[in-house]
Amino acid sequence: MRVLGIETSCDETGIAIYDSDEGLLAHALYSQVRLHEQYGGVVPELASRDHVLRTLPLVDSVLVQAGLPREAIGAVAYTAGPGLAGALLVGVAIGRGLAYGWNVPAVAVHHMEAHLLAPMLEPDPPEFPFLALLVSGGHTLLVDVHAPGAYTILGTSLDDAAGEAFDKTAKLLGLGYPGGPALSALAQRGVPGRYQFPRPMTDRPGLDFSFSGLKTSALNTVNAEADDEQTRADIARAFIDAVVDTLQIKCRRAIRETGVRQLVVAGGVSANRQLREALQELASEEDGRVYFPRPEFCTDNGAMIAYAGYLRIVAGEREPLSFRVRPRWPMDELTPCT
Ligand code: KG4
Ligand code: ZN
Repeated sequence: MRVLGIETSCDETGIAIYDSDEGLLAHALYSQVRLHEQYGGVVPELASRDHVLRTLPLVDSVLVQAGLPREAIGAVAYTAGPGLAGALLVGVAIGRGLAYGWNVPAVAVHHMEAHLLAPMLEPDPPEFPFLALLVSGGHTLLVDVHAPGAYTILGTSLDDAAGEAFDKTAKLLGLGYPGGPALSALAQRGVPGRYQFPRPMTDRPGLDFSFSGLKTSALNTVNAEADDEQTRADIARAFIDAVVDTLQIKCRRAIRETGVRQLVVAGGVSANRQLREALQELASEEDGRVYFPRPEFCTDNGAMIAYAGYLRIVAGEREPLSFRVRPRWPMDELTPCT
């Protein structure tokens, strides 16, 4: 069975073909970063219009890449939420339409479930059960993953998501959009320990997060200090050290509370090298293992949608002809893929 995956929840158009026997056959991505950078963030209406232009040409290009005719596609999976309503509607309408036209089943995919499953596309995938730390632009979640689709949310951000905190802090340091990679590059030149920011919510029990205070710490430091390149790098370093430390502390707590020592880390921020190193270190200290997607599948992509869709198709899920998007879609409302 070959599944076409379509991702349009935010500012990347991602398309891929997953084959149940051969794995990932082809994937293609169009990033709208250039389109939005002049506005300092994603403009939803522009994102939707651009997905309209990109989606079908990318579908054609993955078929060519895979050397397959469209008749070889056995099902179409598309991100139905969470995400920007208009952007989601483009992928859902095109995906549902293609499935109807091709006379194959369609399936709706939860974007964060797809991130969580992305490491399953790697050569040495994790086995269930595991813990998952999902750190993206819209969400920060610690999840107890019992089996595909069977999730208990252990912790979530009470305010900004980790990626959002990266983006906002980058903006106030004068870096472009999206800020995560630029902030990480700046922090490389920073002196660790020159500034010390709080590790929010680590001094009390629980696995929730709060990141909005960190950008205030960064802002206050920016305002109080000289505006030179080294100071900005030192502030970036203090910010990332605080985020990474906080995530490491919460993951350690989750491992100890659940006794589950396999950890999956996914979502855009999991591309961050410092975070990857800190969680590798944690896993070896706790006698466990950590799994990441390859860097290009940490951020949004079609491959993870095709794979998550494949699991749900095999579990018998089908979307009716009427379609809908779910801009807000709590992950624990998903049903197990049994
Ligand atoms: O998963 P993703 O592509 O989209 C959402 O589902 O939100 O995550 C995007 C987020 C952005 O906030 C971006 O700044 C952040 O991931 N990001 C990074 C890095 N690469 C992307 N943050 C820190 N370090 C990175 N290397
Ligand atoms: Zn995402």
